[in-house]
Amino acid sequence: MHIDILTLFPQMFQSLFDTGIFKRAVDHKLVSVSLHNIRDYAHDKHHIVDDYAYGGGAGMILKPEPIFEAVASIKSEVKQGVDGLPVILLTPQGRLFSQQIAQELSRYSQVVLICGHYEGVDERVREHLATDEISIGDYVLSGGELAAMVVVDAMVRLLPGVLGSEASLLNDSHVDGLLEYPQYTRPAIYQGWSVPQVLLSGNHAQITKWRREQSIQRTLERRPELLDKASLSLAERQLADRLREH
Ligand code: 6GU
Repeated sequence: MHIDILTLFPQMFQSLFDTGIFKRAVDHKLVSVSLHNIRDYAHDKHHIVDDYAYGGGAGMILKPEPIFEAVASIKSEVKQGVDGLPVILLTPQGRLFSQQIAQELSRYSQVVLICGHYEGVDERVREHLATDEISIGDYVLSGGELAAMVVVDAMVRLLPGVLGSEASLLNDSHVDGLLEYPQYTRPAIYQGWSVPQVLLSGNHAQITKWRREQSIQRTLERRPELLDKASLSLAERQLADRLREH
């Protein structure tokens, strides 16, 4: 996968790119990233990227020309055609990011992310350039960079080969619409607090059953609204209903 990021602050991405899973993915050529400084596409003497809002009001608006030009320059390098190339604007007004959207995006061979800033982005970017708009939650960030990093991280760890074991993806919270079960490692007793006996039993059928029940119970306690959409068997649905009555 290739990721193009349009930003006013390319340096913000360094820690993501230099560390952990993401760095490994880049080193193994499973993903590549190009950072495009929007300012480089502003051709006036002072490289101005923003301007006052028509109609008045506080705050500056990102101008359309540098953003259109940066995306045009990216598109001119795309060999297999730009039809279907996702151009995603990060904005608090976008659709709410989720594991499902991360999965959807991870299937593209290339994505373009535009980080908004200041009080907003000229509406023509939304109307005539972006193919999608994403928000990472109902709060306001100073810019789209942190949101872009969240989206990139969630996407890249889903690419084949990026995590050591693909199996670990299946149990993640949110993958099947449930929260993950509780996890323990050694020691078996820490400050008098024991690991649940079933996990030490070596009985894998029992362990699988316990974990599934824990997932359902935990989801019910913490995020009950998720259970309605989760993929549960009939027996699991009945278990959820019993737990809910207690
Ligand atoms: Cl994508 N951008 C900004 N500026 N704030 C946000 C956001 C994005 N998602 C949630 N808050």
